[in-house]
Amino acid sequence: ESKNAKIVTCVAPVNIAVIKYWGKLDEELLIPLNDSLSGTLSTDFMRAKTTIMVSPTLQENKFWLNGKEQSFDNKRLDNCLKEIKRRANQELPILNWKLSICSENNFPTAAGLASSAAGYACLVSALAILYDIEGDISSIARRGSGSACRSMYGGWVHWCKGIKEDGLDSIAKQIAPASHWPEMRVLILVVSDGKKKYGSTEGMKRGVETSELITYRAQYVVPKRIEDISEAIKKRDFNTFAQITMQDSNQMHAICLDTYPPCVYMTNVSHAIAGLVHAYNSYKGSNKVAYTFDAGPNACLYLLEPEVEEFVSIVNYVFPPSDPQGYFQGMPLSMKDIPQ
Ligand code: PMV
Repeated sequence: ESKNAKIVTCVAPVNIAVIKYWGKLDEELLIPLNDSLSGTLSTDFMRAKTTIMVSPTLQENKFWLNGKEQSFDNKRLDNCLKEIKRRANQELPILNWKLSICSENNFPTAAGLASSAAGYACLVSALAILYDIEGDISSIARRGSGSACRSMYGGWVHWCKGIKEDGLDSIAKQIAPASHWPEMRVLILVVSDGKKKYGSTEGMKRGVETSELITYRAQYVVPKRIEDISEAIKKRDFNTFAQITMQDSNQMHAICLDTYPPCVYMTNVSHAIAGLVHAYNSYKGSNKVAYTFDAGPNACLYLLEPEVEEFVSIVNYVFPPSDPQGYFQGMPLSMKDIPQ
């Protein structure tokens, strides 16, 4: 019997938004208030890895995350599974078999480092292979974690919020492959790898309920920024790309402060890093580094390869760690195309 078991393993990368997704129009379907745009990293250093087994001999559904068993009673996981099964050929016998899901991240989970994006992108890719689903599956990954839809494609990815009420057109599209801008690098400065105080779900919900800025941003700011940054990426105009990226991160965190009670994600160290980036850019005469912060204190920096060595040495000089092992010794992260 068990010879019929099917096992699939996938890896999926993290993505870092330059135009942030912040706020939901529909909490159940995870339809966003505004479009967003990100770069997808290569899977060499930061990635999620998921193995799924379906077998007629399994008695119950099971789910492990980073070696710890989790409850299968999870609405987002359930929504992804339901949507996958809805799109599958209903004659498939494996549709009725139980699942064993084993997922792991090789970087801190839930510290504002896009772990859920990579995790759900990975889960949905593995499920789609298992049940032979064809066509765009980014709208299924979106049901797990909004930003996960962008990790389904490599390079530069635009998540269009869509106009349909069922969210079926709220999907991600690649606007340029990673190979379009091969010198692009990302540095992640881990300010704290602890679990965040309030997750993005809670922050967004409270933002939609209490911030007036959030509506202004979605209506008047983001559409133009998406256009302008797409143009900057197409022209490989780093100076403009960096300015829009930093302004958009700052606007997202301004909304977090405009939320009541406020959501404070950035710490003094995060602000000191932003200050250092501005000082470096002004010393260089144009933007050479761009910071962006998600729902946590860690800095994600976009910069071009020729800038990496000098900037990293300045970071190590300004933020000397008490533990010498803490000096930045990592490799800068690069972007790579994902074979579809
Ligand atoms: O997909 P979520 O629910 O983890 O929200 C992600 C929100 C940000 O990371 C802060 C911004 C973004 O667009 O990735």
